[in-house]
Amino acid sequence: MTQASSKQQRDILVTSALPYANGPIHLGHLLEYIQTDIWVRYQNMRGQNCYYVCADDAHGTAIMLRAEREGITSEQLIDRIRGEHQEDFGGFHIRFDNYYTTHSEENRNFSEYIYRQLQKNDHIATRKITQSFDPEKNMFLADRFIKGTCPKCKTEDQYGDNCESCGATYTPSELINPRSAVSGATPIEKESEHYFFKLPEFADFLTKWTRSGALQPQVANKLAEWLDAGLQEWDISRDAPYFGFEIPDAPGKFFYVWLDAPIGYLASFKNLCNREGIDFEHFWKADSTAEVYHFIGKDIINFHALFWPAMLHDAGFRTPTAVWAHGFVTVNGKKMSKSRGTFIMARTYLDHLNPEYLRYYFASKLTGGVDDMDLNLEDFAARVNSDLVGKVVNIASRSAGFITKRFNGKLGQVTEQDKLKGFIDAGNEIEELYEAREFGRATRRIMELADTANQYVNDEQPWVVAKQDGQDDKLQAICTNSLNMFHLLMTYLAPVLPETAKAAEDFLNAKLDWNNRSARLENHSINTFKPLMNRVDMVQIEKMLDASKEEMPAATGKPAEPTQPEKIEAVADEIEFDDFTKVDLRVVKIVKAEHVEGADKLLRLTLDLGHGERNVFAGIKSAYKPEDLEGRLTVMVANLKPRKMKFGISEGMVLAAGPGGKDIFLLSPDSGSTPGMRVM
Ligand code: MSP
Ligand code: ZN
Repeated sequence: MTQASSKQQRDILVTSALPYANGPIHLGHLLEYIQTDIWVRYQNMRGQNCYYVCADDAHGTAIMLRAEREGITSEQLIDRIRGEHQEDFGGFHIRFDNYYTTHSEENRNFSEYIYRQLQKNDHIATRKITQSFDPEKNMFLADRFIKGTCPKCKTEDQYGDNCESCGATYTPSELINPRSAVSGATPIEKESEHYFFKLPEFADFLTKWTRSGALQPQVANKLAEWLDAGLQEWDISRDAPYFGFEIPDAPGKFFYVWLDAPIGYLASFKNLCNREGIDFEHFWKADSTAEVYHFIGKDIINFHALFWPAMLHDAGFRTPTAVWAHGFVTVNGKKMSKSRGTFIMARTYLDHLNPEYLRYYFASKLTGGVDDMDLNLEDFAARVNSDLVGKVVNIASRSAGFITKRFNGKLGQVTEQDKLKGFIDAGNEIEELYEAREFGRATRRIMELADTANQYVNDEQPWVVAKQDGQDDKLQAICTNSLNMFHLLMTYLAPVLPETAKAAEDFLNAKLDWNNRSARLENHSINTFKPLMNRVDMVQIEKMLDASKEEMPAATGKPAEPTQPEKIEAVADEIEFDDFTKVDLRVVKIVKAEHVEGADKLLRLTLDLGHGERNVFAGIKSAYKPEDLEGRLTVMVANLKPRKMKFGISEGMVLAAGPGGKDIFLLSPDSGSTPGMRVM
């Protein structure tokens, strides 16, 4: 009988926040998905019935505008990004039971259903509000789509809600010389009817719910302040054009993306239930005995701990068992930054480093609280090397060889019963730490055990015993003891290091079974040891930072990636015709194209202008093999001031168009025209 079968199996549904479908996954996001994945893997290892669902958050203005800029439909954009997100998550071994999209029929049905319930309960109000409107694009503008000069410090080109230079906050109408970040037009004020969720009517319910133990104490305290200050009605509608779901019986009005986003949790789970025959009602009915947990970042607490439970409650669903917020990732003590190369995309990391290093590092620093977390890259390398490579893997490598060579791969009997019992019992403490999301304390406890195991091997000196005659039994016992310790260490680390855990199972020829961990590996055949993990090399980290710095979106004509969700880059200021004629655009022939050592995106091009050659770096490696470019014509800006880049001097810029990736288009398929010709 296993230790868990004496208890009831728990039914658990877990979610992570749904990432926006308008940008790539970066290391900041990954803190959340790694935290959640570790917790879910732990629950499943313990034999719980635990599901993990997520989805892309596909709606909203930013996504609609980005698709427009790329010349594709919103649906095409969200499909592509969803594929990229799934690849990134897969690369970090995040194991979702379902990864869906909020742009789904299930989500439309639930959103309409919940909205109608709120309406039936008289919790929807309508009234007219006045907002900024772009008269050229014919659309209302949220604050972040308006730019202008800061009323306080007079810095130009600031967003409509706050100044990045002096930190002032204001309303868009206070901006000097405001203009639409979408079209450049001067916004006007316009009235329209909006739909509101009457949140103040849930003040009593929320005061109770936020104090029910569903939130971390720091979070509950913060919310108590907001509740004291009084709740406001929540604007849940947006006017067309908008990419989202139209509100029933309200033509031209759409659900605000934040209304249908959390409902996306229900929709993704429903989609899974339909596929696998799981009982949706059992998890979501008002008096459900199943558990539901939302892992989120601290920036989206109000949506999950106020609006969401109120909506669920009003519509007759159960509320979450808990909402767990985590803090924000900084890199080397500072906000992630593109210029420092610390705005690291999931993909860039995976190109250079093992995903389990990051899983372990995050785990080793995670608590159950909302503190921010610094990813210090030197500390990262030191921690992984000393803990995983130096302590854990080392135990196996020091004992495995003797078993293979001297005992035909076969373990003997455990002789250190007390020591091993200590390892088994420590599992009870580690269980509590995993359950409470105290992963840092859990890994520290596991490393204490690793120290004990290494100390044991040091004391017993199997390499000395191996040379003594007639000591075979002793040698086999030492190695059997230490490999049993290793077996337990890997069992405890398995939620954090799923791939290494698999490799350890192959090596030990035994499952890592938490609930049956008191079973010893005795008189048992193991397989030949292969190194389970390599040391982190600072050189790999440097390469990753360089690759993160390298991107030059302007050179490919690819629209700049917004650094924050839903913030878009303004169109450039208008220029006079005279300014335009200053730009010397020339047809040029690509005479040579080569890879740039150490650069992931760049090619070095030698361009023939008809009267001399130029060296230009272009970020088009994702779309072209160098050999396919040679002999082709393209258009370049020939009078751009030479620019010193990391890999050398770039003497101009090649023009290209397209969304990026494999679709970056240069001018002509083959030669035929004359290099040097001026374009215009
Ligand atoms: N789409 C919303 C969530 C809707 S949930 C119904 C959203 N998306 S997001 O892409 O901006 O963020 C997804 C998650 O990643 C959020 O929980 C957010 O807090 C988290 N993080 C984004 N950047 C982060 C860091 N730099 N550090 C830690 N977490 C971060 O919000
Ligand atoms: Zn300012």
